[in-house]
Amino acid sequence: MKKLFGVIGDPISHSLSPVMHNRELNELGIDAYYHPFHIKGEDLKTAVEGMKVMGMNGFNITIPHKTAIIPLLDKVDPLAEAIGAVNTVVRENGLFVGYNTDGEGFVASLKEDWKDDLSGEKTLIVGAGGAAKAIYYTLLSKGVHQVDIANRTVQTAKNLIENQPYQADSQALSLKEAEASIGKYSLIIQTTSIGMEPDIYSSPISLQGLTPGAFVSDIIYNPGETQFLKEAARYGATTQNGLAMLVYQGALAFEKWTNTKPNVTRMKETIQHCLG
Ligand code: ATR
Repeated sequence: MKKLFGVIGDPISHSLSPVMHNRELNELGIDAYYHPFHIKGEDLKTAVEGMKVMGMNGFNITIPHKTAIIPLLDKVDPLAEAIGAVNTVVRENGLFVGYNTDGEGFVASLKEDWKDDLSGEKTLIVGAGGAAKAIYYTLLSKGVHQVDIANRTVQTAKNLIENQPYQADSQALSLKEAEASIGKYSLIIQTTSIGMEPDIYSSPISLQGLTPGAFVSDIIYNPGETQFLKEAARYGATTQNGLAMLVYQGALAFEKWTNTKPNVTRMKETIQHCLG
């Protein structure tokens, strides 16, 4: 029987996941379909119950349901539980099990685009919102312990550090403090919304003093590079834009649902084609 996957969110029409997954399912000859569902907060419980009885095989969860869905699932993976957000549900022996592939996808992309062993990297995360939390906890869970967090509101960065359940050697910094010590980091990850279209000339911190050869990633995906990445490249860094996280979180979900590794390069092309 044809398998059914999908994504639930509010709004949902902007989601690129349907085209990315459907192309991949097609190319790999997997008899399945991925559909976007517009689900409002008050309908979330009914929607999950409905998907369960209708035999849905798995789905993604996007804004604003990533946290609210947790109590509605049968089981939640410990990393997703710690992050407090689920973006992927897999039907396992009839049960709905929640995972977070945002952080894992991002770490997988670093391994692919940069290096496999990240354990010794002195890392700076800029921003302390939901995406930063997923990346921070995932890095710690994989043994990358030296991770500092810089944020406009330093207390939010402190909260992330104090509440994390892993082993960490982390400091909370102001954006100014991060700028002053930028040369000591080999991996820098930009997670704030600054630099997103149309505000493409803004950047949360200056990268002057960056060590050439550092790896700098920005989770924003604009068709052009962000100011942050342009500056990083000028100082001799290797750069990665937000297409990586977008595609790898989807690739990990795809693999969990189908037990088949998708073609990540083709998934990137699909998204690039959609975004122009
Ligand atoms: P997401 O879930 O996408 O990570 P979020 O939870 O809204 O989004 O987090 C947004 C991040 O961008 C936060 O780190 C926020 O800083 P504050 O905690 O100080 O709000 C950061 N951010 C957003 N606008 C900013 C701005 N104009 N200057 C500096 N930081 C900003």
